[in-house]
Amino acid sequence: MTIKENYSLKELNTFKIDVKSKYFIEIEDETELKEVAKEYNSKGEKILILGGGSNILFTNDFDGLVIHLNTKGIDIVSKNDKEIILDFQAGESWDDVVLYAVKNGYYGIENLSLIPGTIGAAPIQNIGAYGAELKDVFHSLDGFFINDLKEKSFSLDECEFGYRDSIFKRELKDKFIITSVKLKLSKEKNFKLNYRDLADLNKLRKNITLEKVRNHVVKVRESKLPNPKVLGNAGSFFKNPEITKQQLSDLIVQNPALPYFKSPDGKIKLPAGWLIEQCGWKGKREGDVASYHRQALIIINYGNATSQSILKFTQEIKDSVISKFGIELEQEVNFY
Ligand code: FAD
Ligand code: EPU
Repeated sequence: MTIKENYSLKELNTFKIDVKSKYFIEIEDETELKEVAKEYNSKGEKILILGGGSNILFTNDFDGLVIHLNTKGIDIVSKNDKEIILDFQAGESWDDVVLYAVKNGYYGIENLSLIPGTIGAAPIQNIGAYGAELKDVFHSLDGFFINDLKEKSFSLDECEFGYRDSIFKRELKDKFIITSVKLKLSKEKNFKLNYRDLADLNKLRKNITLEKVRNHVVKVRESKLPNPKVLGNAGSFFKNPEITKQQLSDLIVQNPALPYFKSPDGKIKLPAGWLIEQCGWKGKREGDVASYHRQALIIINYGNATSQSILKFTQEIKDSVISKFGIELEQEVNFY
């Protein structure tokens, strides 16, 4: 077990914030994970599980142990003619999981292509894109509580998934370590192409394949989202706000062009990117922080932005969206 001290996390978070952790360990084995969690928890040290670091803003040095989870492996749990249940170790890269499914003809996660990070983190905010969410294919997950190492499996219902939300982002934040995730994927053709950016694919009709959907999603994402290897960012900084029917009718009077989306459960969502753009932030830069010129909801670190400068910039965005639209934006990114 090699514990490093005063370890730089700059290359381990996609925002590229230059902070250090008091202790750091890279873990590839579940037994070792439990041993180290037990030891450092009993010493009273805070523990942070880090996957790809793609949904995190470090606001300070981390005063505790950062565990970089790198456990790998895929097991087939069961299969029949219609579906397959697969169990993935938490450290598997999410996009490798998507690629594996696409190559093997398993349907259900192709719309979620190119989302950075690990599968172990995917349930935390119930990752979603282009009309699909993790919960649509989620079977269950396994893990243990940090305080007593007690193991537990969570079923779909127990995870309490919502839009960019789950029990792990709320009550169990930093209390439970997800060690593996089971997905139930379809072996029968089954595409979700209702999202506006995928409309072109409908034209292919019978000729549509998993590879074509994946390639299209990758192309759309590359045209809008900055590559975190080139420009520091953590994806959408805020969630898209959900509003009531009454709020919508009031807002439309003042803003006839307001775009909005109704989800199948009847909720109304506004695109935060539009609200931010209307307040004049799109492409705006202060020092090394900016709102991305192609997608206002993405906050960029041009190189040497500090977390303090990002917090100041994003607070200014929040303030102007409240004063123009009366809507409070909620951060999507996890702060530490
Ligand atoms: P990290 O950032 O490492 O961790 C995030 C949180 O999960 C932390 O609180 C961490 O402690 C916790 N955590 C991580 N692993 C575990 C574990 N095994 N057990 C317990 N807790 C854990 N998200 C979307 O939903 N849809 C998108 O389309 C999308 N696009 C993105 C595009 C870009 C360019 C970027 C940079 C990010 C995007 N994201 C998107 C956000 C991000 O990729 C996802 O939230 C992803 O699931 C984070 O995975 P990670 O491994 O990087 O998690
Ligand atoms: N828009 C603008 N200006 C902008 C950006 C967006 O007007 O600068 C408006 C447009 O009307 C556009 C609409 O917002 O039609 C939606 O934009 P987009 O399709 O780019 O998606 P989004 O709502 O901004 C969400 C997710 C993304 C996910 C995409 C695709 C959230 C917070 N974000 O973004 O997830 O990839 O949809 O499904 O729900 C993430 O969570 O990190 C993330 C990147």
